[in-house]
Amino acid sequence: DIISTKEILLDAKKNRYAVPAFNIHNLETMQAVLEGACEMKSPVIIAATPGTVDYAGMDYLVAMARVGAKKHNIPVALHLDHCSDINFLEECIGAGFKSVMIDASLKQYEDNIKVTRDVVEFAHKQGVTVEAELGTVGGQEDERNVDAAKALLTVPDMALDFVKKTNIDSLAIAIGTAHGLYKLKPKLDFERLANIRKIIDIPLVLHGASGVSPEDTRKAIELGICKVNIATELKIPFADSIKEYFLENPMANDPRKYLTPGKNAIKQVVMNKIEICGSKNKA
Ligand code: 13P
Ligand code: ZN
Ligand code: NA
Repeated sequence: DIISTKEILLDAKKNRYAVPAFNIHNLETMQAVLEGACEMKSPVIIAATPGTVDYAGMDYLVAMARVGAKKHNIPVALHLDHCSDINFLEECIGAGFKSVMIDASLKQYEDNIKVTRDVVEFAHKQGVTVEAELGTVGGQEDERNVDAAKALLTVPDMALDFVKKTNIDSLAIAIGTAHGLYKLKPKLDFERLANIRKIIDIPLVLHGASGVSPEDTRKAIELGICKVNIATELKIPFADSIKEYFLENPMANDPRKYLTPGKNAIKQVVMNKIEICGSKNKA
């Protein structure tokens, strides 16, 4: 069955690798992620934003993830990504999600604490793990758009205070990454990450990992990142390979044919990211 991210991330932290969280959008993208993870014998986190949950259907997503977990026999978590609506989040938990992100990072600090603490209390009663964010990751994800200039990096002491007061299971930090691709090579604040790790004991999460080089990703993992979020680097090859198929086969209309190159493209990226994260053979 699908599980929470508790054991998955604690094992990653203990053994110094990261588990990738891949954002999916439908049956095909979920299948491609699960097949890639299975082939690599890696635990995997399937992430769905509220927009994806609305698009694909809450119950459909849970049912598909359950079938996939059973079929592939690797640890699979279905994770609600970047949710700022508590009612929606509780509905997802009711439907069977075992891992959620409450994203109140755009609120005032005290409000972020209050909202996050309430979610943790509700979720933990049901064995559901909670990720929250402090600082802001720039760029566009779902409906949420943060101007890069307004993106604030996580302050270590504040992060410690936040973790203590909220009792969250994992913390998303802002160290210079942004959602989407980058115009310029991103500059990650590794010193900040090291300082956060020094005082915080729960698994740390890197958002906006698409466009971050393998070297920088590995360095971030060495310094304590346990979960690496990847969305854009799946979406682009999925779309590109389908476009290419239609260029070569302009009359195509069989979804089983034109979606297959998209699935294969995703699977390749998934396997590559698992290699980079070091989660291969950890299932
Ligand atoms: P990217 O689109 O940059 O991979 O960011 C993904 C993410 O952080 C999902 O929460
Ligand atoms: Zn994110
Ligand atoms: Na990114």
